[in-house]
Amino acid sequence: MTRKRVAVLISGRGSNMAALIAAARANDYPAEIVLVVSNVPDAGGLAIAKEAGIATAVVDHRAYGKDRTAFDHALQDVLLAHKIELVCLAGFMRLLTPWFVTQWQNRLLNIHPALLPAFKGLDTHARALREGVKLHGATVHFVVADVDSGPIVAQGAVSVHEDDTEETLAARVIKIEHRLYPLALRLVAEGRVSVTGGRCIIDGAETSDTPLLVPRP
Ligand code: GRF
Repeated sequence: MTRKRVAVLISGRGSNMAALIAAARANDYPAEIVLVVSNVPDAGGLAIAKEAGIATAVVDHRAYGKDRTAFDHALQDVLLAHKIELVCLAGFMRLLTPWFVTQWQNRLLNIHPALLPAFKGLDTHARALREGVKLHGATVHFVVADVDSGPIVAQGAVSVHEDDTEETLAARVIKIEHRLYPLALRLVAEGRVSVTGGRCIIDGAETSDTPLLVPRP
């Protein structure tokens, strides 16, 4: 089995990155995390990656001012230098240019802390509580130029409790994120996910067979 070379892009604590690193330690996992890149020099996840023996790089967005294209080209150079085949955004808080997204079409994943297309953007847990939804969760999707809008690879759902606060709900969602992202990356790295008409098809089956994780009781 040739394992796909994966880069994880982070801006913060990197708990999803850590979950991907842990999953990729299994011998039968079809991807290896060979690089972690952050746009924030002191992102907590960088230390975790280094400890795990993974190459790290910083492309500090502040050096590029408002020039998003220049930042994305610098990022691309790092990815190409490491012969990266798939990219996972994991709490990467930068908007990427259409140019960059096109370079990585169907090879660039993101995890979003909501059941898309509900609650695109920020503050998803607070908004879910405000709206009174009974189910919430996380989505792994391919990245397209429109934010939080790409083809959905997999979703994980959690129930919302009467007495939930933003923090308790976030804690429940992040647990499912840590199971969902490794599952979704496995499917993509194994070449089992195709995109047709803006939708993901798994194993050539209908989209309704897209994996849905629900937490164990
Ligand atoms: C996660 O909730 C992820 O869904 C969102 O940003 C958060 C990153 O957390 N995109 P971590 O850095 O992976 O711990």
